[in-house]
Parts: sequence; structure tokens; C-alpha cells
Amino acid sequence: MAPALLLSAALAADAPQPWPPPKLSDTGLYRDDATLAVADDVRAFSPQYPLWSDGAAKLRWVALPKGSTIDATDPDAWRFPVGTRFWKQFSFGGRRVETRYIEKTGEQTWLYATYVWSEDQREATLAPAAKGLRNHVEIAPGVRHDIPSVADCRACHEGAGRDAVLGYGALQLSSSRDPLAPHAEPAIAGGLDLDALLNEGRLKNAPDAWRTTPPAIAADSPRARAVLGYLHANCSNCHNDQDPIASVGLSLRASLAAGSGSDQPAMRTAVGVGSKFQLRDVPAGQTLRLAPGDTERSAVLARMRARDGMSQMPPTGSKLPDNAAVQLISDWVREELQRTASATDPLGKL
Ligand code: HEC
Ligand code: HEC
Repeated sequence: MAPALLLSAALAADAPQPWPPPKLSDTGLYRDDATLAVADDVRAFSPQYPLWSDGAAKLRWVALPKGSTIDATDPDAWRFPVGTRFWKQFSFGGRRVETRYIEKTGEQTWLYATYVWSEDQREATLAPAAKGLRNHVEIAPGVRHDIPSVADCRACHEGAGRDAVLGYGALQLSSSRDPLAPHAEPAIAGGLDLDALLNEGRLKNAPDAWRTTPPAIAADSPRARAVLGYLHANCSNCHNDQDPIASVGLSLRASLAAGSGSDQPAMRTAVGVGSKFQLRDVPAGQTLRLAPGDTERSAVLARMRARDGMSQMPPTGSKLPDNAAVQLISDWVREELQRTASATDPLGKL
């Protein structure tokens, strides 16, 4: 055989597997594919403020490369080591439907994939990247779950100047768990939460204070804390002050740097602030993002209730409104937001 051919044969044998792998079991999640016991380097976690996904039950795992650390220099936006992997499993009605997977493949690059579970629940295979699978399984009468495309993943996960990870940070993993968080799941015993990361030396440049005072959202009341946490988890991947839609001027990111409730971006950019979105039953120019005491004039609530594809918020990721969250925020708007005159209130007479 000619030397050139020998060389190309050797290269082909060494070539990396096609990536992402065709089966979930090839991503390294499981130690045992039959029992679904996870591998030794894979750890469970549960964010205290979950994303609403039509009531899906979720399990989440992380695997950090051996000996690596997460850089917490920016407490609100951690930097992960190359090789970090995350999984998120979705179940409806007790049946596994899909397991999403992200992996940091370079300093600025993340790989996205989702694996669809077979009818017999024995294995999960790669979903089509370009289109996902629309209307895959029925989750409520006449409502079917969409398996997202990779473009959908990116639309929610990628943002300016931060890593793609959305639910794994100081606030989400803090042992100060919010008892009022909608759809809250308990912390996971033995999981890789904030305390475990600190104790196991997996965080660098973390503030010392996190050891003594677990981070929590500074807010005016327990209910306000839960509202801000919900908006942070469900809305701030788009609504922050850095990403392309920052020009909208609505930031719903809960900041650990905020020392008081009134310092929170959501309080400053939503409460009493006029909305570009005009509600049909409200006189022109009088819709507010969050109108103190007035749920009907609050665009945030109207858009959370909507599921029409046009005005619904978030625009993707769910087909049913999150009634528990709408209730929480409505009660807060009605009972706790002050009806004081606001410079930004277009009516000036709240
Ligand atoms: C509608 C927005 C949205 C879409 C679309 C979306 N995600 Fe996410 N994802 C989130 C949010 C918000 C979280 C964190 C909150 C949670 O887990 O409940 C998250 C969490 C995750 C996690 C756990 C790690 C983390 O970032 O917290 C993985 C893995 C993941 N998503 C993968 C994917 C993949 C792969 C796709 C596409 C197939 C996808 N996601 C599509 C919003 C989205
Ligand atoms: C995937 C990105 C994305 C997510 C997540 C998202 N939004 Fe939006 N939002 C947008 C975009 C883009 C616009 C501007 C275009 C429009 O109004 O439809 C917008 C506009 C808005 C507006 C009108 C802005 C104004 O001038 O008052 C409100 C209110 C709003 N969103 C609320 C929310 C709430 C509440 C959530 C979470 C429950 C949320 N959004 C989640 C993308 C998103």
C-alpha cells in the first residue's frame, strides 16, 4: 500500500467519534445503561428557580473535568472549564421524553444536542438538529410537546459575554432555598450544589461570604423574592442589559450585587415603567410593564398568560401558561406594589 494511503487509514482509525454521539448512552451519562445509574463523575443538582416547561418533571446532572474548577470571578456569570457537560431529562406523566445535553468544547463554544426516548423507554437517540421534532408527544388534551432544534437551544442559552449555562450558578444552587419559588424541587442530597462546590474546592475566586451567608435575592418581602427569582430563571436569559434585546430596556436578571429590593434591575426597569407592548383593553400609551395594584394594565402578566405564539412570553419553550407563577405575580402586583406616583408612569396618577 502506498504510504499516503497507510497514513490516511491510520488517521481514520484515530478520528474522533462523530459528535454529538448518536445515542445518549455514548455521552457518558450512565455507568449502567440497564439501570440508568449515572457514572461516577456525574453529579445531580436542582436549581431553586426552575424554568417552566409545561409541567415537565426534570432531572439534571453535571460532570466537570477531573481536577478542574469553575471561575466565579463574576458571581452572576460563572466561567466553566472546557469539557464541562450538563444533561437535563424531561418527563411527562412519568415517562421520559427527551434528555438535553450541552458540552463546552472550546473557550467560546458549546455543543447542543437532545436525545429522544424510545417508546419502550430503553434508549434515547439524537433528535434532528435542524428542526427538532414538533408536536412529539401529547402532554395535555390537544397539546403536544416540541423537541427543540439546536437553533432553539441557542436562542435561549447563548448570550453576550457569558457561558451557555443558565441554571447552574450561585443563586440557583444556594442552600438558602426560596420556600415560595413556583414548582420548586427539593435540593438533592449528595448533589453538586454551592456548598459542595465550595467544600470540594471546585470554585475559584468565590467570595468568602458564600460560606457563611448563602446567597439569596435581596427583595422587599418573601413574595417579592420569589417573583424576582421566577423572572430571573424564566426571562433573564433574554431580558438583561447585555444581550441583543437589551435595547428594549427591560432587565429581569436578579443580581447578587443588588443590596436591596429597589436595586434589583427588575424593580427599576419593570415596576411603573411604560411598556412598548400595547394591551388591547388599555387606552393607548397607558400599558405598563408592571402596574402597581393593577394586574390588567401589566404587560408582563398579560404576556405570561398568553400562549398565542405572538405575544406569549417566553416566546418559546412552553405551550401552556404557568398558572402558579401568574397567580404569584398577580397577588404581588395587587397586594404589595405601592401605588405611588412614579416619574416613569405615563399617566402620572397611579
Ligand atoms: C425556552 C428556553 C430554552 C430552550 C429552548 C432550551 N433551554 Fe435549556 N435551559 C433553559 C433554562 C432557563 C435552563 C435553566 C433552568 C432549568 O433547568 O429549569 C436550562 C437548562 C438546561 C440544561 C442544564 C444546564 C443549565 O444550563 O442550567 C441543559 C443541559 C439544557 N438546558 C440543554 C438544552 C438543550 C440541548 C436545548 C435544545 C435542544 C435547550 N436546553 C433548549 C432554557 C432553555
Ligand atoms: C427567548 C427570549 C425571550 C425570553 C426568554 C423572554 N422574552 Fe420577553 N421579549 C423578547 C423579545 C425579543 C421582546 C421584544 C419583542 C416583543 O415585544 O415581542 C420581548 C418583549 C417583552 C415585553 C415587552 C417589552 C416592553 O417594552 O414592555 C415584556 C413585558 C416581556 N417581554 C416580558 C417577558 C417575561 C415576563 C418573560 C419571562 C416570563 C420573558 N419576556 C421572556 C424575548 C424574550
